[in-house]
Amino acid sequence: METTLVLLKPSCVSRGLIGEIINRFERRGLQIVGMKMMQLDDDKLREHYSHLVNKPFFPALAKSMKASPIVAMALQGVEAVTVVRGMTGYTNGRTADPGTIRGDYSMSNQQNIVHASDSIDSAEKELARFFKPEEIYPYKHALAEYLYAPDEY
Ligand code: TYD
Repeated sequence: METTLVLLKPSCVSRGLIGEIINRFERRGLQIVGMKMMQLDDDKLREHYSHLVNKPFFPALAKSMKASPIVAMALQGVEAVTVVRGMTGYTNGRTADPGTIRGDYSMSNQQNIVHASDSIDSAEKELARFFKPEEIYPYKHALAEYLYAPDEY
């Protein structure tokens, strides 16, 4: 089992898409083991997007990420990092495949609805950035035996 971080960005929250996007993850079989609404600030954004702070678009990115609260989610499942990245789609909504979240809900490279951790290592660091250990709640998925074969989980 892996746990990965998803942020529902202001482009999701402000458009009233929180429920719709969460529904996609739940329907796929991913288990929500942590979830909270929060307002991001510059310190958190510089840390979270440290690989992008020197890019010319960073100020606009930071502004867009502070435009409303976000919803942070910890999602658990077998190979959850890869599964969730696949559901998220390419960064730019205009080139993201239909059927992905960005391909179905976004027309933008920046207002692209969700953030999702891109590796197991990032997921671990990013979960620690947004959640205290006691804010992650492991529990048995009642349908696990229907979501996976016995040797898969
Ligand atoms: P990045 O980590 O490259 O992509 P992803 O979110 O798919 O992992 O970029 C982080 C965010 O930065 C991206 O979701 C939106 C924003 N961004 C821009 O605003 N303009 C750009 O040209 C790029 C590449 C990213």
